[in-house]
Amino acid sequence: MPNSSKGNQICTLVIFGATGDLTHRKLIPALYHLKLEGLLSSKVQIIGFARQSKTDAEFRTGLKAAHKEVSRTLYDEEFWQVFDKQISYHQSNFDDLEGYKSLEAKLQAYEKENNTPSNRLYYIASSPSFFGPILDFLKQSGANNSVDGGWRRVIIEKPFGTDYDSACKLNQAVAGSFEEADTYRIDHYLGKETAQNIMVLRFANTIYESLWNNRYIDQIQITVAEDLGMEAGRGAYYDQAGALKDMVQNHLLQLLTLVAMESPVDLSADAVRDEKVKVLRSLQRLDTPEKVKKNTVRAQYAQGSVKGEAVPAYVDEDRVPKDSKTETYVSLRLFVDNWRWKGVPFYLRVGKRMAKKSAQISIFFKQVPSVLFNENQKLAENVLMIKMQPDEGVAMKLMSKVPGSSFELKPVDMNFDYETTFAKQSAEAYERLLLDTMSGDATLFIRKDEVEEAWKFIDDLTAVWKEESNDIDLAVYEAGSWGPAEADALISKMRHQWLEI
Ligand code: BG6
Repeated sequence: MPNSSKGNQICTLVIFGATGDLTHRKLIPALYHLKLEGLLSSKVQIIGFARQSKTDAEFRTGLKAAHKEVSRTLYDEEFWQVFDKQISYHQSNFDDLEGYKSLEAKLQAYEKENNTPSNRLYYIASSPSFFGPILDFLKQSGANNSVDGGWRRVIIEKPFGTDYDSACKLNQAVAGSFEEADTYRIDHYLGKETAQNIMVLRFANTIYESLWNNRYIDQIQITVAEDLGMEAGRGAYYDQAGALKDMVQNHLLQLLTLVAMESPVDLSADAVRDEKVKVLRSLQRLDTPEKVKKNTVRAQYAQGSVKGEAVPAYVDEDRVPKDSKTETYVSLRLFVDNWRWKGVPFYLRVGKRMAKKSAQISIFFKQVPSVLFNENQKLAENVLMIKMQPDEGVAMKLMSKVPGSSFELKPVDMNFDYETTFAKQSAEAYERLLLDTMSGDATLFIRKDEVEEAWKFIDDLTAVWKEESNDIDLAVYEAGSWGPAEADALISKMRHQWLEI
């Protein structure tokens, strides 16, 4: 089970695609903070592997500038100087065998000289078209083979394929070079503190699990809203993907599995993932035009304003075609067909350029019987809110008596806030995930069968959306709003409403 007290193992981390945004804005800041917390040995080497020609010093300068901008803690120049000694750069094309061979020779010489173990962590963070070639060249150069008992692990960034077939192909390519047990498919949502807390909340408390089923739960909402539109340079990728593939296939379905899964037999990576994959297999398929029209809404943002600033429509964003029909918002009504969840709708909604950034899971419990207090007034349901970002915590909506001589009732919130309770800022998801890969814990990573199951579900749905004769509308919402009116209509069919966040 995830347990950072295990600490990391000394290794060399090679990042493919090291000149990209992910390395600058997420990976290096995460490694810096691991070091700050005493969780990264000074013997861990970090090597950026990319095509651009750069010296070590130039590479480090670029990383430093980005780190300063995004660091979650106050930047400390002296500490950075200690940290960046662990970073170097290796220039090579991704399809140049010589580049891999010279890296391998360099690493072996370093390990011998410094008497460090021959453990290697390869992080593939390049553009997806290079995932296959990089895996292949790692194999051809022998870099995937253990030397002197050292381990070899590979981390693969998203997107893991663009559909079921391409994901299977990529899985085959990975399997050709690495064991499944050494393969870490990243979904950074699983590294978020509150996502990890879902299992604890459910299985380390008596009160929730006994009510966690269709007898007591009326509906579940998972909202992941972003106020951002297209970040620089992302338009072309995003327009191919859309919100369904970019967010639902991975992050939202993963959150759903954590909420819906059965208790695993133990906390090992495979036991947890066995339960998650069962949830994916129990999802009612959205594979006919009727089902899709009834249970999905896709939409795109028009111009509007976010935080008081005017923002353009999606089609006016950089590198987005003017006639794009890509969805930037999706809401879905899903059903998990098993004994525990039969009949309980899981409402998912995700979108760019919404009113504010927020990720939250809300569990709505059933109404009390209409006797006593709710004979004359409608009582609000109890809602358990698992808040993932920007604030992290758990809150429960309860009915309470308003002080005074009459029996007036009002919903109130019982709140637990991470930062106040633990007086500590949560680590970034990538900190946790990098640490886990170094210590060999795959619980928070996606297994081969999980990624394939998720794609099967998504493929069914996209096939219906894509077929023009099905006439599936692309709704419109104003940037800065909570999504299109059609999404309210979708959920009101069962007399539900989106929780105001
Ligand atoms: C990424 C998506 O996986 O997650 C992005 O590709 C999205 O489009 C991002 O912006 C959201 O992550 P977070 O952690 O900011 O909610």
